[in-house]
Amino acid sequence: MIGVFDSGFGGLVVLREFLKVLPEYDYLYLGDNARIPYGTRSDRVVIRFTEQAVDYLFRQGCRLIVLACHTASARALRRIQQVFLPARYPDLRVLGVLIPTVEEAVARTRLKRIGVIATEGTVTSQSFELELKKLDPEVEVIQQACPLLVPIIESGEQDWEGTTLILRRYLAPFMGRVDTLILGCTHYSILKEQIRAIVGTGHDLICSGQVTAAKLVDYLARHPEMEARLSRGRTRRYLTTDLTPRFQQLASLFMGHPLSSEVVEL
Ligand code: DGL
Repeated sequence: MIGVFDSGFGGLVVLREFLKVLPEYDYLYLGDNARIPYGTRSDRVVIRFTEQAVDYLFRQGCRLIVLACHTASARALRRIQQVFLPARYPDLRVLGVLIPTVEEAVARTRLKRIGVIATEGTVTSQSFELELKKLDPEVEVIQQACPLLVPIIESGEQDWEGTTLILRRYLAPFMGRVDTLILGCTHYSILKEQIRAIVGTGHDLICSGQVTAAKLVDYLARHPEMEARLSRGRTRRYLTTDLTPRFQQLASLFMGHPLSSEVVEL
């Protein structure tokens, strides 16, 4: 199976894109809804939670896992790839959403001025800036942490008029200063149209879902030994660490349809 992990619902928008381009595989989605948000937590905690999730998904039979969460990709992925996998699962793989998004942004910017909106944790990690500059040292990067957006989305208030005011404030530093804006949190694609209405058509918006799906197609083509280990039964299972009354409403918002989900303990 291919495992897809997020701290909550945001990774469902990434899974949705995987299902469009790679529908033949079996997928297991895990949302750590009991412990969201990750974006305000320390490195130590994000690493511990993400390792627990990855371990759980491998024990369920996943061979390849995508961290469909920018916070986990920015703060835990490197350690998982360099320490956790070699020690525990040397022949299995974990990928993230950050590098595919960075590669796409560098390929698309014409002015070499890239904006990033993300959780506090992702911005503080400096991962976007480091990776963008690694690919092109000439790019100028402006980052803005948006701590109110995940709670707004998770409480189903994305259409509230206050959301527009908050977005205007978060997006002000980018106006006229960047040509490419990375939505560096998987939750934010829910707000893409509102963001587009504020920044206008002069800003190229990059969401990680489509971009990561295209990179996954490419990864599997380049790694036939991994591809051969993935089962192709077209099943989709959804796991969550907490099932709240709002679950179906939010699952439908992110996935496009209600989900039947099993509650698990990590
Ligand atoms: N989905 C997470 C991300 O992409 C944000 C939610 C959280 O703070 O856990 O960063």
